[in-house]
This record gives sequence, C-alpha cells and structure tokens, in this order.
Amino acid sequence: MLSPSHVRILLGVLSCLSVFLLVLKIHHGRLYHSSISLEQYSYPGKAKLHGIGNDTLGFEKIFVINGPWRTDRKDALALAASYTGITLDFIPGVEGDSIGETAYPPGNHRTISKGNRGSWRAHMNAIREVIERNLTTALILEDDADWDFRLRSQLSDFSYGVRKTPELIAQAEQYHIGHPPSTDETLSQVELAIRSSVSLSSLHPRYLSREEPGYGTEWDILWLGHCGAQFPEPSPHSPNRIMIHNDPTVPEPQYLKPMSRANLDKLSSVYPPHTRVVHQANTTLCTIAYAVTQRGARKLLYEFGIREFNKGFDFALSDYCNALTRDATREHMPMCITVQPPIFGHHFAERGGSDIVGIDANGKPAVETRYVKWSVRMNLERLVRGEDGVVEQWGEKKD
Ligand SMILES: *[C@@H]1O[C@H](CO)[C@@H](O)[C@H](O)[C@H]1NC(C)=O
Ligand SMILES: *[C@@H]1O[C@H](CO)[C@@H](O)[C@H](O)[C@H]1NC(C)=O
Ligand SMILES: *[C@@H]1O[C@H](CO)[C@@H](O)[C@H](O)[C@H]1NC(C)=O
Repeated sequence: MLSPSHVRILLGVLSCLSVFLLVLKIHHGRLYHSSISLEQYSYPGKAKLHGIGNDTLGFEKIFVINGPWRTDRKDALALAASYTGITLDFIPGVEGDSIGETAYPPGNHRTISKGNRGSWRAHMNAIREVIERNLTTALILEDDADWDFRLRSQLSDFSYGVRKTPELIAQAEQYHIGHPPSTDETLSQVELAIRSSVSLSSLHPRYLSREEPGYGTEWDILWLGHCGAQFPEPSPHSPNRIMIHNDPTVPEPQYLKPMSRANLDKLSSVYPPHTRVVHQANTTLCTIAYAVTQRGARKLLYEFGIREFNKGFDFALSDYCNALTRDATREHMPMCITVQPPIFGHHFAERGGSDIVGIDANGKPAVETRYVKWSVRMNLERLVRGEDGVVEQWGEKKD
C-alpha cells in the first residue's frame, strides 16, 4: 500500500528524473528551436540562386543509388526529398554476385568484396545513364545521404567557389613552376591555411553578380558528400582555396569529424569557426554525394568501367582525383573539387545494418548525420507531424 507521503516522494523522484533526462537530452546537443519555419529555409528567395533553386538543385538530374532490398532507405530518402522540394531518380543497386565474370575490366576484382563489387557496378550504371541521356551535369547520391534544410543557400555559395577554383588552381600551379618550394617557410599552420585561401566575399562584385546559372562546367567531379578530406598542399603565395566565412550551417569546431570517435578534421584547427572551404580534392573518402559533368562522366566510365577495376569505387575515385591511378599524369588528371565540411553527410539510421555504424561517446550506436546541423532526416518525425521548429544537432556552445 502506498501512503500519501510515499506518493509525494515518488512524484518528487519522477520529476527529478525527467529534469535529468531533459538535461541529458540537451547535453547531447538536441537543441530545439521552436520559432523556425523550415519551409522558408528550404525555398529561399530564388533571386540569388542563379538557377540552382530548382527541384534538381541546378543539376540536370539527381540520381540516387538504392538497392531494391533497402526499401527502408528509399522510403526515408523520398520523404526527405519531398520536404526539400527535390526530385530524385532512383538507380537500382546491384548484387555483386549477379555480375558476370567476363564483365569486369582488367584488374584483380576477385580480391574485392561482393558488396564493393555491387556498389562499383551501381555507380557505373548511374554514370552511364548520364552519358546515355547526354546530361550536362548530374548529382549522384548514395541512399544514406542527408542534408541541411539550408541546402540551397549552401549550394549557392559553393557554386561561386566552384566557378573560381579552377582558375585559382591553374594560377597556383603556374606560380609553383616558376618558384621552387622555399625551405625557409616559418609560417604557422593557421597562417599557411589563411594565406592559401581567398575569401569568397572578397571576390569582385562583377563575378558575384554573374548571369550564367549553375555551377559552370569547368570541372569533372564535385565531391559534395564525403567522410573526410585533406586540403591540397598549402600555397601561401598564390592561393588555391576559397573560404566562406561565417557560414551558420557549419557546425562548431569540436563537431567537425566524420564519426563521433574519429579525430577532429584539420579544418577545425586551422580555419576560424564557421568557415567552409572549397578546394581541389585530395584523399577524399566515401562517395556519399558527387556531381559529374558530361565530360567527367565519360572519363569515369572509361577509367573504371573499361580500363581498370581493382579497388572499391570510393577509394578508386579518390586515387583518380589525386592522379594516383595507373599511368596517371598530372596533365590528364580530372578536375575534382570538394568542400569542407561536406554539404551532404552520411546518415546513421536507428536500425538496419549499415556497412559503417556510427558509435556515440558511450560506445552505443548513434543516430546522427555528421556535419549536418539542421538535418532533414533527423527531423522527419516532426515534419510529418506538422510540428514547428527544428531539432538541431549539437547546438551552439553557450559561453
Ligand atoms: C534545373 O536547373 C539546371 C541548371 O539551370 C537545368 O539544367 C535543369 O534542367 C533544371 N531542372 C529542372 C527540373 O528544371
Ligand atoms: C548532347 O548535348 C550537347 C550539349 O547540350 C549537344 O551539343 C549535343 O548535340 C548533344 N548530343 C546529342 C547526341 O544529342
Ligand atoms: C594531400 O594531403 C596530404 C596531407 O595533408 C599532403 O601531405 C599532400 O601533399 C596533399 N597532396 C596534394 C596533391 O595536395
């Protein structure tokens, strides 16, 4: 029998417990902004978007590679796309065993896991689709990709960076031909990084008010979603990177890492907080999201569909972008541009065997999307229920 005083104690304990749980929840960074209308962020003013505000984000098509056996991921992605005003074309994933022995290009494909062989084939099919349909550009996503509600404004800034980067790279290479690397550099890592970068806001207004839409076509691959990337060699006398300052969608420095247990990205220590950097790809990991031009698609299909296949597609693409594949020359290396932090992140879902599993600080599988603050997939439940506000991953640290 519970006496009234027992009940009072019990209620007291319960209310303490709920306060504790609430604190725990905030401690885990699930800040909740109640006054935000997500609609407004998903569709910002079209004026400044230069053709990238449409339902394929300024690319001609968006393909998603999805194994027909992972309907759960297809459902989630279709739902996320519907709340962002994006139209997706699904490309069926491939079972490694279904590929005929004679279909493989030269290379030691037998040493590659079944899963990686299937993934390679699915990426090749997506790339071939770009060629067969004669698309100017296409974005290719894996089915665990996630993004921020503010995707369109992120891509708008990125598109300016993309248009400028090839020119910067060419100038920097030219400079280094005439100037052998000096050995008396005494600059700190931070100084080196800053001097190697041009601020997007310092570019000429004529450039920033350009008329032509989209991302241009002076590139082969835009590596928009990855799980780790290196910066190119610093180039303090002729900058080779573009930095976007005060980007509110960039997580606080202590969250800039591909997995909870991974080391922090160099970005977190050499650039000011909330800086996004656009640069030539160097040792980029995971093919969560990348765009190709028609020219880029042709290069990739030749390189990996015909010429050689001897490692997982993500590693192979990384090598290709670094001119590390067999017989590669710098002269013929593709123009691969990436961004840190990435714009698309890998979503670690609640269940369903992922090949890579996120682990939180307590060693438990984490449900999260690294690098993405206002994650669409983390907010699906709220959106479906029609609730206002957004659950933000890792809120701002309060000083
Ligand atoms: C979106 O914009 C891009 C670039 O202007 C264009 O190539 C593409 O066809 C557009 N997509 C749609 C569905 O209008
Ligand atoms: C492919 O597209 C390009 C550029 O839009 C165009 O010039 C070319 O004629 C097209 N090729 C075919 C076979 O349709
Ligand atoms: C790529 O990054 C590594 C590590 O920071 C660096 O040592 C290397 O020089 C870079 N390579 C290129 C081609 O920029």
